[in-house]
Order: sequence, then C-alpha cells, then structure tokens
Amino acid sequence: MAIKLAGLLSIALSLSGLALANPNPKTDYDVIVVGGGPSGLSALSGVSRVRRTALLFDDKHYRNGPTRNMHDVIGNDGTPPDEFRALARKQISEYPTASWSNQTVMSITSIGTDKVSVFRVADSEGRNHTARKVVLGTGLRDLLPDTPGVKENWGKGIWWCPWCDGYEHRDQRLGIFGPLADVVGSVLEVNTQYSDIIAYVNGTQNEATEAETEKRRPDWKKQLAVWNVTIDNRTISAVKRLQDGAKVQNQATHQQFDKFQLEFTNGETAERDAIFTNYPSVQASNLPGQLHLNVTNEKIVVSSSSMMTSIAGIYGVGDANSDGSSNVPHAMFSGKKAAVYLHVQLSREDTESKISKRTGLSHTELEEEANRVIGRNLEPFWDDVMGRR
Ligand SMILES: Cc1cc2nc3c(=O)[nH]c(=O)nc-3n(C[C@H](O)[C@H](O)[C@H](O)COP(=O)(O)OP(=O)(O)OC[C@H]3O[C@@H](n4cnc5c(N)ncnc54)[C@H](O)[C@@H]3O)c2cc1C
Ligand SMILES: *[C@@H]1O[C@H](CO)[C@@H](O)[C@H](O)[C@H]1NC(C)=O
Ligand SMILES: *[C@@H]1O[C@H](CO)[C@@H](O)[C@H](O)[C@H]1NC(C)=O
Ligand SMILES: *[C@@H]1O[C@H](CO)[C@@H](O)[C@H](O)[C@H]1NC(C)=O
Ligand SMILES: *[C@@H]1O[C@H](CO)[C@@H](O)[C@H](O)[C@H]1NC(C)=O
Ligand SMILES: *[C@@H]1O[C@H](CO)[C@@H](O)[C@H](O)[C@H]1NC(C)=O
Ligand SMILES: *[C@@H]1O[C@H](CO)[C@@H](O)[C@H](O)[C@H]1NC(C)=O
Repeated sequence: MAIKLAGLLSIALSLSGLALANPNPKTDYDVIVVGGGPSGLSALSGVSRVRRTALLFDDKHYRNGPTRNMHDVIGNDGTPPDEFRALARKQISEYPTASWSNQTVMSITSIGTDKVSVFRVADSEGRNHTARKVVLGTGLRDLLPDTPGVKENWGKGIWWCPWCDGYEHRDQRLGIFGPLADVVGSVLEVNTQYSDIIAYVNGTQNEATEAETEKRRPDWKKQLAVWNVTIDNRTISAVKRLQDGAKVQNQATHQQFDKFQLEFTNGETAERDAIFTNYPSVQASNLPGQLHLNVTNEKIVVSSSSMMTSIAGIYGVGDANSDGSSNVPHAMFSGKKAAVYLHVQLSREDTESKISKRTGLSHTELEEEANRVIGRNLEPFWDDVMGRR
C-alpha cells in the first residue's frame, strides 16, 4: 500500500513538473482590482490569501468619505470609514503578492483571445499593467441638489440610509427630502425610529406627481397618516446648520444632536434635527461605460453566482453592481465572492493550459493516458489508502 501511494505521488509530481514548464499567458499580475473601498479591499484580500498576484488601484474617492462613523458592520460598528480602510490595507499588506497604486485607472483594454482573457490597464501616469482578470469595485456617486447646505452637510445629519445614520438621531425631528412618490418608501424604513416626520417635497407636489404616487401606492395618504407624516410643499432655498452633532453628542447613548434651519423661497423657515434624502446615484467611474459593459439603471449587470459582468474576466462588485444592495457588508460579500470565483477560474485555465500543452495530446487522450499510467479505477485505491474500508 505504501509503495502504491509513493508511486502515485511520484507520477503526480512528474506530471506537475512537466506542466510547470508551460504557464498560461504571462501577465504582470493575475488580477487587477480597481477600487480601494470595502468591495475592492475584500476582493484583494480573497485573492492574496491564495497567493494570487494582484495590484489594487485606489484614487481615494469613497462614497462614505463624508460620514462621521460607519455603522451596521458587525465588529466595526461606529468605526470611522478611513480607519476601517486603513486597518484593512495594513492587514492585506502583509501578503507578499498584494500590490498597491494610488493612481487613477484611465482605461482598460481587452487584449486576450476567445479562450483566455487578458487586459491592459493604463494608469494616470501613462503606465500599462496587464492582468488576466479585472475586478471593478469602483462605486457609485450620489447626485445631490445644488441647494446650499445639502452637499456641505452630507453624511453629517443629512443622510440617505437609516441603517447608516438613523439610530444616532432617533426620536428627533426628521425631515425627508426628495420626490413625493418616494416618501412612503422612506417612512416604511424609518417609522420605528421617528414619530415627528415631515416630508419636504420642495414644490414638486402637483397632479402628475400625485398620480404617480397613487399608482405606486394607492393608499399612500392613509399610510402617511398612520405614521403622523405631513407633506410640506414649500420650495427650499437653503439648509443652514444650527448645531453640529459631531460636537453635541452623547457617546454613552450613541446620540448625535445636529440641528438645521430650512429656508424657503417665500422667506419662511423651519427647523429639523436630521434629514433623510431620496436622490439618485450614478456610476462613479467611466470605466464601465468605456468597456461597454451591460449597465442597467446605473448598475453594472453581474451574474449573482460569480459577480462576472457581460465581459468574461471582468467582475463587478460593491455598490457599482446590480446585486440590488449598497452597503459595506454587501461590498465585502461581493468582493469576496468574485475573489473565490476568479481564483478557481484562473486555476481551471492553468490546468487546461498545462494539459493541452503537454505533448500536444487532446484532453481525452491525456485523460486516457493518465488512467493508463495511474490505474483505471482510482476510487477503490484511494479508499484503500485512506483506510476507509
Ligand atoms: C454618507 C454615507 C454614509 C454611509 N454609511 C454607511 C454605513 O454606515 N454603513 C454601511 O454599510 N454603508 C454605508 N454607506 C454605503 C457605503 O459607503 C457603500 O456601500 C460602500 O462604500 C461601497 O463600497 P465600494 O467598495 O463598492 O465603493 P466605494 O467605497 O465608494 O469605493 C470606490 C473605490 O473606487 C475607486 N475608484 C473608482 N474609479 C477609479 C479609477 N478609475 N481608478 C482608481 N480608483 C477608482 C475610488 O477611489 C474608491 O477607492 C454610506 C454611504 C454614504 C453616501
Ligand atoms: C498611497 O496612499 C496611502 C494611503 O493614503 C499611503 O499610505 C501611501 O504612501 C501612498 N502611496 C504612494 C506611492 O503615494
Ligand atoms: C501602453 O500601451 C499602449 C498600447 O499598446 C501603447 O501605445 C503605449 O505606448 C504604452 N505605454 C507605455 C508607457 O508603455
Ligand atoms: C428644490 O427645487 C429646486 C427647483 O425648484 C431645485 O433647484 C433644488 O435643487 C431643489 N432642492 C432640493 C433640496 O431638493
Ligand atoms: C406628529 O408630527 C408633528 C409634526 O408634523 C409633531 O409636531 C408631533 O409631535 C408629532 N406627533 C407625535 C406623536 O410624535
Ligand atoms: C407645490 O408647489 C408648486 C411650486 O410652488 C406649485 O406649483 C404647486 O401647485 C404646489 N402644490 C400644491 C398641492 O400646493
Ligand atoms: C443586460 O442585462 C439585462 C438584465 O440582466 C438583460 O435583461 C439584458 O438582456 C442584458 N443586455 C445585454 C445586451 O446583454
């Protein structure tokens, strides 16, 4: 039995020795990751731990850049996002196959064949880098209105995600900004956190928007009444900060006390402590467009099983993809999923390449040869070796 095992191992070793002489297309890296947010970092971690060579580009425009603290990321609830990313970078830097660049990726060109994907990635210093797989974790960008005070206070008392910032402002006076048709959806998300809610629809309430709302939620008026929500149609001219929740807060109870004055075009004003918004977002990067990836509703269409885009070898992760979720846990999950899938895909390609390059035998011929050398029925042999009988 010991002899049989030794024989099998030596055959396996000689096969792999032969195959090592025939690597797949030579590229600078196995993988290039574009994006240093949680999705790109997670993808880099996943490929680095299985010793894939990878280069990650991060030009440092993060969607949650403006926010004070990151929430609902277990183990890191309340961590400032820059601290979270810095710790991730530090930990991943321990893996010798991980590399970093702070450049912007300007273009990605497919230079592979039908069988094997290869990409050339050009950075903002004009350098080219090649890789067999590309992961896009390039994120979304929020389209905020120009009304003075909205962009300035974004992520600091004005926010779009109740899980991210709602709890710190619980039971305070809440304003909702955005279209009338989105108000009910917002209320369904925040009714457990607030009872004093006013939706400021900014002069958009008219027959057409009411009809649209009616179509989406036939009983919208009743739903709003249930949760004590009123509609205010005045046109907002500015949002002024009266108090800064970064300074006025109770850390023991996790409460932040922001305060805003809303100014209307008719000269009137109102006060709110927190504002929940409904504004659109778009792809942060022009790379998906440049590559002509399938993008629907501003999201890169990906397969949910692999995170693969409409171009084989390019993966879309995090906020940018069509998974239907935009938060840090999803970003990490999807980055990890792409890492696992593409690693195994690279291994498949390597295996295939090693097999076909060996003596020019076809797949089936090689299989037959292997069976002849090793013995046709391997299953009982292994059972024997492992003492399973
Ligand atoms: C105000 C605010 C608060 C939030 N708070 C929370 C929260 O508390 N909890 C939570 O779970 N989620 C929160 N989110 C959502 C969270 O920010 C996103 O889900 C998350 O950042 C998505 O990660 P990502 O990796 O997909 O993209 P991002 O974090 O946006 O990272 C995109 C990366 O791509 C890079 N990049 C893009 N194009 C290029 C290029 N051409 N070359 C080089 N680099 C490029 C950028 O520089 C960046 O590194 C918040 C969002 C906002 C707006
Ligand atoms: C890239 O950015 C990181 C984080 O800000 C920094 O630590 C590093 O020194 C930068 N690298 C280069 C080459 O500038
Ligand atoms: C990058 O590749 C392009 C296309 O092959 C080439 O034109 C360009 O000169 C290369 N740049 C550098 C710096 O090598
Ligand atoms: C309010 O509506 C005006 C147009 O009437 C628009 O310019 C502005 O951006 C909107 N502001 C907000 C906060 O939605
Ligand atoms: C209902 O909302 C109004 C503001 O529209 C507020 O003054 C009042 O306190 C709220 N009622 C409750 C029970 O919270
Ligand atoms: C909402 O405000 C707009 C702009 O001032 C106005 O045209 C519209 O009639 C108002 N709607 C209602 C229901 O008052
Ligand atoms: C793009 O993706 C959508 C959604 O998955 C799909 O319905 C459509 O057929 C795709 N289009 C192309 C050109 O692949």
